[in-house]
Amino acid sequence: MNLNIAILSGDGIGPEIIKEALKITQVIADKFNHQLTYKQGLTGAAAIEEVGDPYPEKTHTLCMASDAVLFGAIGDPKYDNDPSAKIRPEQGLLSMRKKLGLYANIRPLTTFQSLIHKSPLRTDLVDGADFVCIRELTGGIYFGQPQGRSEDGNTAYDTCVYTRFEIARILELGFEFARKRRKKLTVVDKANVLATSRLWRQIAQEMALDYPDIEVEYLLVDNAAMRIIQWPKDFDVMVTENMFGDILTDEASVISGSMGLLPSASIGVHTSVFEPIHGSYPQAAGKNIANPIATILSAAMMFEYAFKLNEEAELIKEAVDASIIKEFVTIDISQGAQGQTTSDVGDWIASYIKNK
Ligand code: IPM
Ligand code: MG
Repeated sequence: MNLNIAILSGDGIGPEIIKEALKITQVIADKFNHQLTYKQGLTGAAAIEEVGDPYPEKTHTLCMASDAVLFGAIGDPKYDNDPSAKIRPEQGLLSMRKKLGLYANIRPLTTFQSLIHKSPLRTDLVDGADFVCIRELTGGIYFGQPQGRSEDGNTAYDTCVYTRFEIARILELGFEFARKRRKKLTVVDKANVLATSRLWRQIAQEMALDYPDIEVEYLLVDNAAMRIIQWPKDFDVMVTENMFGDILTDEASVISGSMGLLPSASIGVHTSVFEPIHGSYPQAAGKNIANPIATILSAAMMFEYAFKLNEEAELIKEAVDASIIKEFVTIDISQGAQGQTTSDVGDWIASYIKNK
């Protein structure tokens, strides 16, 4: 099979972790006789500096012409402390999501047996936790208009907007996921306060009639935040709006022991994007210490979702598991004071795959 992918490394540790994910993708392609071709595209702060746009048209054209996009991370502290910055790196990520129509972000949350002790939560609570968060990705307060400041600069506003169409298509994905898993769907909203949430809940209740085999639970987001920590094993599939999903998945990453472990897939109308859930971790940039596993597992999701090559995806996951069991890991999840380098972990996983 021809695997034609776009590589967007982005900022901070992006280039280092992408390099390892690409290494693994190449090894898998060789092993299973696929032809891998890839092109790099500019995005984020790096793209602002070079062409003044965090998601240049040229990058968009590249993504549209590819079968999948492997994405590193975006963000640069230089912009965070400058509220007057007109263009921000994160806008690149948001316009990519919007222009590619990536309305669903799938974030699986699992634990690794040998890392259970790394979670700050009690072992009996996290052992066996396994759920998927389906986050709406192109609507809500991230994109609603108007957004901005009053002329005198003393009032600022964001608007949360959702249409029936947007809500129904993401809920449908949630119901379908639940059907293939343990048949429980948790709809997270803030229906006691927000009008958009009440529309979500209404549509979910209507749709639930078509899914009698699925147990549907409605949770207010504040309560959900508590339950994720208190009883993570209670969840199977969670579906929620854009910002709630952003916040809850960072929280949920604590269960697995490190943010550096969790991959995601963003799917929708055009080319799908595969990216770790963590950010650009600028403090670690260039040091060869960042955990490449979240990005390598994102490559596994790429094989599964974009190419429907499950055997390839499973082998990547198996190799990652093996590296964790062997404790050949970066500092964030290592037992001792020392960790392996980003590239050595990538090499270890690559050679496991080769020798399999
Ligand atoms: C994420 C990130 C992004 C988001 C930022 C970088 C804009 O936190 O993918 O979770 O909020 O969606
Ligand atoms: Mg986030």
